[in-house]
Amino acid sequence: MKGIILAGGTGSRLYPLTLVASKQLQPVYDKPMVYYPLTTLIEGGIREFCLISTPHDLPRFQQLLGDGSRLGVSIDYREQTKPSGIAQAFLIAESFIAQDPVTLILGDNIFYGGDAFQRAFSEFHAGASIFAYHVQNPERYGVVEFDEHGWALSIQEKPLEPKSNFAVPGLYLYDREVVAVAKALKPSGRGELEITDLNMEYLKRGQLKVFRLNRGFTWLDAGTSTSLHDASAYVQTIEQ
Ligand code: G1P
Repeated sequence: MKGIILAGGTGSRLYPLTLVASKQLQPVYDKPMVYYPLTTLIEGGIREFCLISTPHDLPRFQQLLGDGSRLGVSIDYREQTKPSGIAQAFLIAESFIAQDPVTLILGDNIFYGGDAFQRAFSEFHAGASIFAYHVQNPERYGVVEFDEHGWALSIQEKPLEPKSNFAVPGLYLYDREVVAVAKALKPSGRGELEITDLNMEYLKRGQLKVFRLNRGFTWLDAGTSTSLHDASAYVQTIEQ
């Protein structure tokens, strides 16, 4: 399994912090944010990485992480020249993915606790696997609707009227078909290749597994000043 870390975007909700350094380079307590998703994938056994960011920010990530050898991993770098959606990562990283299964993690997602990912990585063999996490504000996220047996029925991106409180965190596993599936996607109303449309395609094919993350698990997204501050406080508490 290979790993893609997507660290693009303008970080506009964190202005003026993000005018000189991208969101994923902001400190979360004592480390740059990108360390956390990188660590999550390293803990899952991944050693080959591709980090995608904007042409402006990519040199900063290279300065920070180099070729990865210091951490015992390898890191390739690719540019996302325009913010054209999360699923575009698979087109940008096509030659990196080659014939292998791949995990994508968003550079602003911080996970802590449990072994749900490790299990999903080791069990994975085909199709796609995503996760669902109970939140109070599902309208901010991709939202999974389940039937009474717990099977996923649909996923909607930032719905005005969410069909459940289960949000999809920014960590996704795919087989090598993902590049072909991403190539067939059409841009959404906001002009992006949506990760939710990609997941819906796997769901329609009967090849999507959705694992629920239980209460012992913490998922933080650090995209606003409040959540960035909360994430720092959380990590400080855990570390101390
Ligand atoms: C993205 C995805 C969304 C997902 C979220 C997780 O939204 O589009 O489906 O639930 O990441 O962080 P964003 O936060 O980039 O708007």
